[in-house]
Amino acid sequence: MKVFKQIKELRIELAHYRAAGKRIALVPTMGYFHEGHLKLMDVAQEKSDIVVVSLYVNPTQFAPDEDLAKYPRDFGRDEHLAEERGVDILFYPDNREMYSDSHVTYVITEELSRVLCGKARPVHFRGVTTIVAKLFNIIQPDVAVFGRKDAQQAIIIRRMVEDLNFPIEIIVAPIVREADGLAMSSRNTYLNAEERAQAPVIFQALQEAVKLVKNGQTDAKIVHQKIRQKIESAPLSDIEYIEIVSERDLTPVDNIKPGTFAAVAVRFGKTRLIDNIVLRATD
Ligand code: PAJ
Repeated sequence: MKVFKQIKELRIELAHYRAAGKRIALVPTMGYFHEGHLKLMDVAQEKSDIVVVSLYVNPTQFAPDEDLAKYPRDFGRDEHLAEERGVDILFYPDNREMYSDSHVTYVITEELSRVLCGKARPVHFRGVTTIVAKLFNIIQPDVAVFGRKDAQQAIIIRRMVEDLNFPIEIIVAPIVREADGLAMSSRNTYLNAEERAQAPVIFQALQEAVKLVKNGQTDAKIVHQKIRQKIESAPLSDIEYIEIVSERDLTPVDNIKPGTFAAVAVRFGKTRLIDNIVLRATD
């Protein structure tokens, strides 16, 4: 595996592969790899000849009061895990390489970036779309792989790719969970033992919602209530939002129909966890 810190050198390397007709896949990450990240690398490998993983903790997607400084980092470990997983190229730029002092250009997906997580994190998705657009322009992959764990992010990226005509196939891979159902996240390391023990209630609540829908419930209000009750049964939980929305445009639905999913953000102590589940698959 080759590690590149400079855009210029990475581009020279990739030009060779492109000239040889190789299909290039990109997996954008902020590092501190867990099995969720590593599965995306497997999917990328299946879909391409050359897998590029970017590892960059992007400051523009963190608000000043968020966890940018304490976001977990361990480059040595990540480098080892990526290499073991068969990644060809690790792109590991620093802030100066990614944002010049005069950077003023942003990509904004308007309404989509203001709902769900965007309510509590108003600058977050602007940072995500901007860095992902930059990575797309730097690497020019044929395919890019994202995780369903961040459902809103994946929907926003798909919209950006369509709206801005990026010639890139977007693949969204399923959520990878711990044995007890908690969705894997680099932020799970922030949880203390008590919080960690209660956090699986999120997935349990989402599973109960799916069961309700399978049994014929279509009223989003009732399903919403069920999720709330279950999560509130964990004393350390603090619900930020529970939303039952359309896959297409993230707008709330009253009646659960094909293409409806439930998304939640729940705090345990200082740690904010997100999760989601499809309530009815798209026809
Ligand atoms: P990060 O949180 O490091 O996640 C990188 C990718 O891994 C994202 O596509 C995310 O959805 C996926 N992922 C994380 N946990 C997962 C899990 N448990 N199962 C499946 N996929 C999972 O998301 C970001 O970084 C950043 O916003 C980024 C897109 C890199 C832009 O900076």
